[in-house]
Amino acid sequence: MNENFPPLLNANNVKASVHMCEVLDLPKIHNRSGNITPIQGGIDIPFDIERVYYLYDMPSGETRGGHAHKNLYQLIVAVSGSFDVVLDDGKEQKTITLNRPNFGLYVTPYIWRELENFSSGAVLLVLASMKYDEMDYIRDYQEFLTTTNEL
Ligand code: TYD
Repeated sequence: MNENFPPLLNANNVKASVHMCEVLDLPKIHNRSGNITPIQGGIDIPFDIERVYYLYDMPSGETRGGHAHKNLYQLIVAVSGSFDVVLDDGKEQKTITLNRPNFGLYVTPYIWRELENFSSGAVLLVLASMKYDEMDYIRDYQEFLTTTNEL
């Protein structure tokens, strides 16, 4: 694995920080007939990929997200179009605009995220480290703040 990757949170509960959520430069194989971006779990991104999903047909002005995860790591990619991801660790916020298919935003557990400003036709791809589990979500912002402050 690339030694420059941002770290996974470890068992000692390293506190999640928006500064650990970096935009990763993904491989891009370019030729005359177009580009390929291959993403291999544990090689091109810091975690193994257990689930893939994508969001599409978002109405203009719509906001999604509005939750954090307890154990899930994700890579968020704008495979088409653009959108903003607002990250919040309970203390600091930062907004990342994604608009290139060969860049992905790495998001650790205990980061509240909102997705907004979707361009027309945007497709948001998510590579996730775990299968879907509703118990892994924190959907209440006050509960998120309480939980992160206790870590
Ligand atoms: P959610 O993660 O809350 O979407 P967003 O943050 O983009 O607004 O998921 C919306 C609904 O879809 C929720 O009822 C759970 C369901 N869902 C699955 O069944 N499997 C999945 O892998 C995901 C991501 C969502």
